[in-house]
Amino acid sequence: MGTPPSIDWNSLVAAAREVREHAYAPYSNYRVGAAILGGAGRVYTGCNVENVSYGLTICAERSAISAMIADGERIIRAIAIVTDGPVAGSPCGACRQVLTEFAEDLPIHLASAQAGVMARTTSLAKLLAEPFRPGMLLTSDKG
Ligand code: THU
Repeated sequence: MGTPPSIDWNSLVAAAREVREHAYAPYSNYRVGAAILGGAGRVYTGCNVENVSYGLTICAERSAISAMIADGERIIRAIAIVTDGPVAGSPCGACRQVLTEFAEDLPIHLASAQAGVMARTTSLAKLLAEPFRPGMLLTSDKG
């Protein structure tokens, strides 16, 4: 096995910042960008996509996960999320659950695009206690 390669947080955060510029958030004006480091070392990005029917909004994190799956990757090694606001926002409960589908645990870096806001690194295990995981079903075959 050996030590896993270290994560280049600077480039992951830069990718999240860049994709955040494309966020479609005319209702909340809260723009979010996410960049995932996949198991094979590629980076996948996503931004939030709001809808006039508010509940149809797609979060940045799940948008990035969709891009990853579409590329054939199934493993999330790390994610960087850049939000608006006076604190670095943390992923919503739905996104935490979708992240755990593709990683038992992973480092999560949170940053705000607003100047002077402290960034921090946490983990999925810290943010999502006792998740419902695929192995809990009668069959653990993920297909
Ligand atoms: N949002 C995300 O993109 N990710 C999160 O984890 C939290 C919320 C988006 C959804 C909506 O477009 C806006 O932020 C305000 O809730």
